[in-house]
Amino acid sequence: MSGGLQADDLEQDTSLLGRTLRPQYLSQYIGQDKIKEQLDIFVQAAKLREESLDHVLLFGPPGLGKTTMAFVIANELGVAMKQTSGPAIEKAGDLVAILNELEAGDVLFIDEIHRLPMSVEEVLYSAMEDFYIDIMIGGADASRSVHLELPPFTLIGATTRAGMLSNPLRARFGINAHMAYYDEADLTEIVARTADIFEVEITGDGAHEIARRSRGTPRIANRLLKRVRDFAQIKGTGVVDDGITRQALKMLGVDASGLDYVDQKILKTMIEMYQGGPVGLGTLAVNISEERDTLEDMYEPYLIQSGFLIRTRQGRCATAKAYAHLGYDYPEHLSNGL
Ligand code: ADE
Repeated sequence: MSGGLQADDLEQDTSLLGRTLRPQYLSQYIGQDKIKEQLDIFVQAAKLREESLDHVLLFGPPGLGKTTMAFVIANELGVAMKQTSGPAIEKAGDLVAILNELEAGDVLFIDEIHRLPMSVEEVLYSAMEDFYIDIMIGGADASRSVHLELPPFTLIGATTRAGMLSNPLRARFGINAHMAYYDEADLTEIVARTADIFEVEITGDGAHEIARRSRGTPRIANRLLKRVRDFAQIKGTGVVDDGITRQALKMLGVDASGLDYVDQKILKTMIEMYQGGPVGLGTLAVNISEERDTLEDMYEPYLIQSGFLIRTRQGRCATAKAYAHLGYDYPEHLSNGL
């Protein structure tokens, strides 16, 4: 499945929905081919049987399009989507209010679902499994249980790490989709699509250069495109080509591998202060003044995937590739396998 913009999609986009940045249908969604192929089948089957789609858990690092995918699923099903997030639902009553507004077949999207309070999560179990909730209402001495039937609905949960979900909650999702980092070809296509929507003139090499330095992440690719567009307009001819992209990204501190200031600081701290590691995540976070969760969710996965960092039982270690990339000599005792 190539998933690029086709003439039909464009027509649909301009006539019905406007040319928004978010793809609206699976056919417009670039990359994540395995997930798209599966969802296409499950959505079609649910529609054929006139049932709600089974609950879907989307997991993967930030910026890979989990929210976009949830919108696409709702669009493909032809139903409305209500959107909220784990931290926004503080008590069971908040969830009940949202569930109460759902119509048959609707999608409820909960971003950062791992951050739901336990008391709320427990209400969700029966809602997901059998479409009802039992809630306690009233004060301490006059409280009673109220049984509320719900229409069948699809819960789409998004989380950065599947491991952070409790087992009972995870077990209630029938469809699990692991969103992976995008390859360069898919990201190039995404950059070209976004440039087209922004009406930015871009060369193939320009799109590829941005894609190559976006850490496998469409959100980063689109953000870099905007900044390179500004740079091209003021310092160049307005056309985004590979030369202007390289100049703009140099100014932004994004290096040839797409590592930004924070990525570089993580690796440099490990090398300069901890002899390459092992160093604990908490210690590293304090040293570079970032939240531990930000480090673990946003930075570490890509550094691991691209071979700059490894996790060991003793802590994180910078690899020989990290030393070479940042221009440090790899210490003898490390190359001897110690
Ligand atoms: N824009 C951002 N992510 C996208 C994707 N996966 N497909 C199409 N357009 C996008």
